[in-house]
Amino acid sequence: MMDSVQVRVDAGVMTLRMNRADKKNALTRAMYSRMAEALREADTERSVRAVLITGSEQCFTSGNDVADFLQAPPSGMDSPVFQFMQALFELQKPIIAGVAGPAVGIGTTLLLHCDLVYVSQNAVLKMPFVNLGLCPEFGSSLILPRLLGPARASELLLLGESFSGEQAAQWGIATAALENGAAALTKAASAAQRFTQLAPSAVADSKRLMRTPGREELRQAIEAEGDLFIRRLRSPEALEALSAFMQRRQPDFSRFN
Ligand code: COA
Repeated sequence: MMDSVQVRVDAGVMTLRMNRADKKNALTRAMYSRMAEALREADTERSVRAVLITGSEQCFTSGNDVADFLQAPPSGMDSPVFQFMQALFELQKPIIAGVAGPAVGIGTTLLLHCDLVYVSQNAVLKMPFVNLGLCPEFGSSLILPRLLGPARASELLLLGESFSGEQAAQWGIATAALENGAAALTKAASAAQRFTQLAPSAVADSKRLMRTPGREELRQAIEAEGDLFIRRLRSPEALEALSAFMQRRQPDFSRFN
């Protein structure tokens, strides 16, 4: 069987490629663990100068595997999904994302913690947490209202509206939108490669300077969101929404107060 996450180090760039096409690259616990381990390796391995995270030209990721959410929801900060996001949040080296097709849930959230994000114009980004009976995760409830203003952030986080790669670039969630998936992935790979020509500690120092203001507040938001997310995953509302997804029907929230 093909690895559902391919990890490769080539000429100073570590590439993490989500590779589970039959499930639109839905992320399982095993995939998060593999990516967390790779990110920790990237930070300590001297030869790695940048990390590239990507999927295929058709799909970035459909987000957390919904079956996993039902069968083995994360129970604490040591759960694979938190380990992965924590490793991403702490990474001292630059991280570049190449995004084509759907980037759902954590597929959009993780972009908020990347340094450079190249998307295809017709990529479809979406954070349907409320739609699933959940709540925003990993800093998005703090970052997005600041970046977009509360009115637009509410449309994305409360209604779970999808938006295009082109909009993501206009709003500053992405660095640039490219004409198609192949162009987005190529641009992301070449940006990652450029870091191999730069002074590594100057890059790390500069990244740290940009990320330090407000970091403590962000940590607190991440913790509060994480606690609530874990509780909400066990709520009747979430169980209804997640089961509805698996059964290919619309959720019915009419019985909830
Ligand atoms: N978890 C588990 N399985 C998923 C999945 C997810 N997040 N996303 C897609 N899949 C599965 C589907 O169940 C389907 O499986 P099947 O072929 O065994 O029935 C397969 O992947 C293909 O998905 P499908 O929905 O038929 O493809 P599509 O091209 O019509 O739509 C998406 C693709 C990504 C737009 C759609 O699958 C989607 O919106 N998924 C997001 C689920 C979600 O809410 N994720 C956020 C979790 S926080």
